Amino acid sequence: MKKRSSRAVSAQILLQVLDEGKSLSSLIPEASVQLDSQDLPLVQEITFGVCRVLPRLERIIQQFLEKPLKGKTRLVHCLLLVGLYQLLYMRVPTHAAVDEVVNATKSLKLEHFRGLTNGVLRRFLREQEAILAIVDKHWQTLHPEWFVNKLKQAYPHWREIIEANNQRPPMWLRINPQRTERADYAGLLGERAKYPENSTACIPPCALLLAKPLPVSQLPHFEQGWATVQDAHAQWSALLLGAENGESVLDACAAPGGKTTHILELAPQAEVIALDIEENRLKRVTENLHRLGQQAKVICGDATQPETWLPEGVMFDKILLDAPCSATGVIRRHPDIKWLRQATDIAELVALQGKILHALWQRLKPNGVLLYATCSVLPEENSEQITRFLQAMPDALAGEMDFCGEKVSQKQFFPSAEGGDGFFYAKLVKRANEETR
Ligand SMILES: C[S@@+](CC[C@H](N)C(=O)[O-])C[C@H]1O[C@@H](n2cnc3c(N)ncnc32)[C@H](O)[C@@H]1O
Repeated sequence: MKKRSSRAVSAQILLQVLDEGKSLSSLIPEASVQLDSQDLPLVQEITFGVCRVLPRLERIIQQFLEKPLKGKTRLVHCLLLVGLYQLLYMRVPTHAAVDEVVNATKSLKLEHFRGLTNGVLRRFLREQEAILAIVDKHWQTLHPEWFVNKLKQAYPHWREIIEANNQRPPMWLRINPQRTERADYAGLLGERAKYPENSTACIPPCALLLAKPLPVSQLPHFEQGWATVQDAHAQWSALLLGAENGESVLDACAAPGGKTTHILELAPQAEVIALDIEENRLKRVTENLHRLGQQAKVICGDATQPETWLPEGVMFDKILLDAPCSATGVIRRHPDIKWLRQATDIAELVALQGKILHALWQRLKPNGVLLYATCSVLPEENSEQITRFLQAMPDALAGEMDFCGEKVSQKQFFPSAEGGDGFFYAKLVKRANEETR
């Protein structure tokens, strides 16, 4: 089968993100069948990159067009985004890049717009300096206004969070202590490993930073389960949960299984249930368990209704609730989140998180631990959610967590250049019955 132009496919993907609200992580695997395998990284680079800097590219287009391209011509607009991104951010020879984008009008059946596409991109090349002087006159957050306002209200260092979100994410590995030691694995990677050598930062004991991102096929013994790709801050989850062999553990929102497999690396004989509402995403949990040679019971079900998938009376020693959230802590990894999320989503997510928290609490044994986690930086989903829960539940206590000697009952992480992503943790302990009387 003849494969399609990477620029045309990129424009179609962007149209679906921006106008249909679909995510890059679902669109890119779907589109990959239309592409030559060597074009996939290019499409990824273009589509993620455009989402990262979208407002800047939009302003450039505004300098050229009197009226915005609407309706059926939105695809031409997306093709211009692709072209401008290449010219500004990628090391491709400029005239070849313009030709590729202009030729993509044919494969998109937009030949009428060949002249316009060519004109805009070539004029940009000629007038780049003057245009960028106008476009870049003021600092741009490259984020939606509603989100910037929420950050401003919550944190004095909001600009730092924005700047970190606008960078490319580092790649972290979690080294499996059942297979090897972190230092030995770093030795196998040689110069491709960067961290934690000589670092004093507080990072989890099995976390290892790569000098630059690599495909997993280039990671030594990846298929044998020696390493898993997981952000450094996400690696606190299983450590803080502290599950032990023989304990019953629920990983309540488990897919794709990054934290389920970590729980089992630390306690291989724990009896783990990995639950998720999305059947499709659960396939990834099964694949990950298989790669790591681990056992867990994988269940498709709704965490707000444990009675529909768990027999009455069954209780857990430990529950990890890695709650569905705004994902505003991982924007640098998923820059499309900036354009997919709406301000109105947040209240809905807060309500869902609260519902899951209350439902699962009923299934926690006395003295049991529930670890609440999100990859959000918004207090509504994090500290405010937990404060409300502790006020409502007399049998809930704030448990202590230890981050390299810093003892706290809640922890908000923010994204940083060579650090982890934005993440939140709160440990909740259930009082034994006698204590509540
Ligand atoms: C943050 S992701 C989980 C990531 C996962 N813990 C990991 O480390 O790989 C949140 C998950 O919650 C699931 N989810 C959303 N609503 C749910 C519900 N009502 N019951 C169970 N799972 C739900 C989503 O399908 C999604 O997979």
